[in-house]
Amino acid sequence: MAEQTVPLIVDVDTGIDDSLALLYLMASPEAELLGITCTAGNVTARQVATNNLAWLELCGYADVEVALGAEVPIIAPLMTTEETHGPQGIGYAELPAPTRALSSRHATQVWIDNARRRPGEITGLVTGPLTNLALAVKLEPELPRLLKRIVVMGGAFNHPGNTNPTTEWNVAVDPDAARIVFDAFSGLPEGRRPVICALDVTERIEMRPHHIAALAEACGSTPAEIIDPDDPPGRRSQASNRVVRHLSDAVRFYMEFHRLYDQGFLAHMHDPFAAAVALDPALATTRRATVDVELAGTLTRGQTVADWRGMWGREPNADIVVDTDPEEFFRRAIERVAALARRVG
Ligand code: RIB
Ligand code: CA
Repeated sequence: MAEQTVPLIVDVDTGIDDSLALLYLMASPEAELLGITCTAGNVTARQVATNNLAWLELCGYADVEVALGAEVPIIAPLMTTEETHGPQGIGYAELPAPTRALSSRHATQVWIDNARRRPGEITGLVTGPLTNLALAVKLEPELPRLLKRIVVMGGAFNHPGNTNPTTEWNVAVDPDAARIVFDAFSGLPEGRRPVICALDVTERIEMRPHHIAALAEACGSTPAEIIDPDDPPGRRSQASNRVVRHLSDAVRFYMEFHRLYDQGFLAHMHDPFAAAVALDPALATTRRATVDVELAGTLTRGQTVADWRGMWGREPNADIVVDTDPEEFFRRAIERVAALARRVG
């Protein structure tokens, strides 16, 4: 029986792991990409848009709408992180410049128009700051009920932050947007609450050089794709396969960054894991909680707080991912992206 398609709107701040999420989705036959919306975060929104157009065109998905969204957070001043994702946000990768233009629609309109056109069917995936979704909810308060569900990469609960001691990047960039989204998506029934992929789990999914080597081998790329920790920084891939070459150049930058911060020569799969969960929620074990965002803390503004035991007397408004099988994620990712890479050549 054909797999049921999953209609998706994907909001990203492409970035290296956002790129991997896009590759995973393009490689997944069940993913029906209705639109990719761009928010500022890892790099500027316009650079995010260029990266999205380039990845989609490289992989033969140039028919998918890419729309520009918020270029600054709702209240906070914009912060970007080129030191983490590279000057263009895709590490050392140098993608062929895209040849098509951005959508004439704003990102918020892509969210609202699609959700109104297909009520109850669309999964929203957000792997960047929540600015666009917050703005869309302000324009269309019914959006939480028009969407089937949202899956969000963001937050850190019983886990250290990666931006400040208690804050995760996507929420730290725009904590006010996160508060708006968690408030707006409260009151939804079991099975439709937002699924939150926080650092607690995503930092357990560690891509290492052998994963890239396996992907390259699986799609017949030559020579063997070895990212050696002892290579000089910035060494470029010579892979015969274009997807492998650009993916390897992107991920190498991320691995060098993680090593610089004593996390090992690895790359955390934050966004592609959220994408995999959006396609198959069974990949994640979740636990319901009431989530809110600290906005006033001097040291903790942007911290996501989970009330697991109903101490606030408020209904749960999130299903937080508390466990997964990283090896199953990598099995799916390597199998799918290798097949995409083989098609692209
Ligand atoms: O904290 C990790 C998240 O922040 C990921 O989505 C990464 O791409 C950055 O946006
Ligand atoms: Ca991201």
